[in-house]
Amino acid sequence: MTAVSGITPSGHLTLGNYLGALRRFAEPTDEPGFYFVADMHAMTTRHDPRRLAVLTRETALLLLAAGLPEESVFIQSAVPAHAQPAYLLECTAYVGELSRMVQYKEKGRGKPMTRASLFTYPCLMAADILLYGADRVPVGGDQDQHVELARDLAIRFNHTYGQTFVVPELQRATTAGRVRDLLTPTAKMSKSDPDEAAGVLRMLDSPDVLRRKVMRAVTDSDATVRHDEGAKPGVTNLLEILGACTGIPPVEVAARYTSYGDLKKDTADGVVALLEPVQARYAELAADPDSVDKLLAAGRDRATAFAKPQLDAAMRAIGLMS
Ligand code: AMP
Ligand code: TRP
Repeated sequence: MTAVSGITPSGHLTLGNYLGALRRFAEPTDEPGFYFVADMHAMTTRHDPRRLAVLTRETALLLLAAGLPEESVFIQSAVPAHAQPAYLLECTAYVGELSRMVQYKEKGRGKPMTRASLFTYPCLMAADILLYGADRVPVGGDQDQHVELARDLAIRFNHTYGQTFVVPELQRATTAGRVRDLLTPTAKMSKSDPDEAAGVLRMLDSPDVLRRKVMRAVTDSDATVRHDEGAKPGVTNLLEILGACTGIPPVEVAARYTSYGDLKKDTADGVVALLEPVQARYAELAADPDSVDKLLAAGRDRATAFAKPQLDAAMRAIGLMS
C-alpha cells in the first residue's frame, strides 16, 4: 500500500487540518507515504505570491513538526512531474464531470474572472495521487468528490490506453473528520477563513489564544451535554474535539459532563496538550532553516525518483513516448 495526500497552503493550518489530516499522516506504518504542500493548488483563485511563499514554508514545517516520516514530506512545485500527468488527465477528463465539482460550482462557475486552473484543478489533484501509484488517500470529509474523480480518471485511462494507473481508495477519518467552526458550528473549521477569525483554532495559536477561543465557543440555551449533531451542533463539535484529543468516543465523553463550562475547560486543556509538542518541534525546526532545506530537498528527490516509472508508463501508454 502507498499513501498520498496534500495540504493546500491557503491559510494557517487549523486543528481541523491536524485531526483530519496531519495526525493521520503521522500514524506509524511500513508503507511508503508521500505528503506534500500543494502549493500549485493555492493559485486557483487570486493569490498573493509573498503570502503563498510564507504559508508554503510554514505548512512544510508543520508537516515535519507533526511527526510525519521526514523523507515523506516535500513541496509539490519542487517535483515538476506533478504537472505532466495533470495534462494527460486533462486529456482524459470531460468538461461535464469537471463542471459538477462542488468547489468549482461554489467558487467559480459563471464568474468572468474565474481562473481556468480552478476548473482543471481536480486533474492536477488526480495527477498528485496517480503519480505515486497510491492505493490509499487519507483526507478529511470534504475531498470525497475529488478523490472519486481521480478514481474515475484512472479507470478511464486504463480502459482506453491499457493498465497504467492504480485505482486509489479514499480513506476517511474515523473521528473528527469534520471539525466545525467554534462560532458557526454548522460550517467546517477552515484555514482559508480570515486570519483573525475567532472560531478557528490554528495549530500555531498560543495556549492562551486557544483557550480563549474554546471558552467562547457557541453552545446553546438547553443546558444538557449531549451528542446530537442536528439539534446541538456546537456542543457536539466540542465533544468531537475532546474525543479526538483524548481517544475517548465522543458519546462517552458526553456522559461525563453536566455543564458546558467544564466541557469547555477540558476541551481547551485537551487541545493545548495535543498541540504543545507539535508547536515545540515547530520552533526547533524554524530555528534551523538549513536542516529544513536539506530535509525538503531529500523529500523532493525521493518523490521525483519514485514518480519517474509511473510517469514514463503513462507517457508511453498515451503515445507520447516510445
Ligand atoms: P483544506 O484545509 O480544506 O485544504 O484540507 C486539507 C486537509 O485537511 C484535507 O485532508 C481536509 O479534508 C482536512 N481538513 C480540513 N479542514 C478540516 C476540518 N475542519 N475537519 C477535519 N478535516 C479537515
Ligand atoms: N485538494 C486538497 C485540499 O484542498 C489538497 C490536495 C492536493 C490533495 N492534492 C492532493 C489531497 C492529493 C489528497 C491527495 O484539501
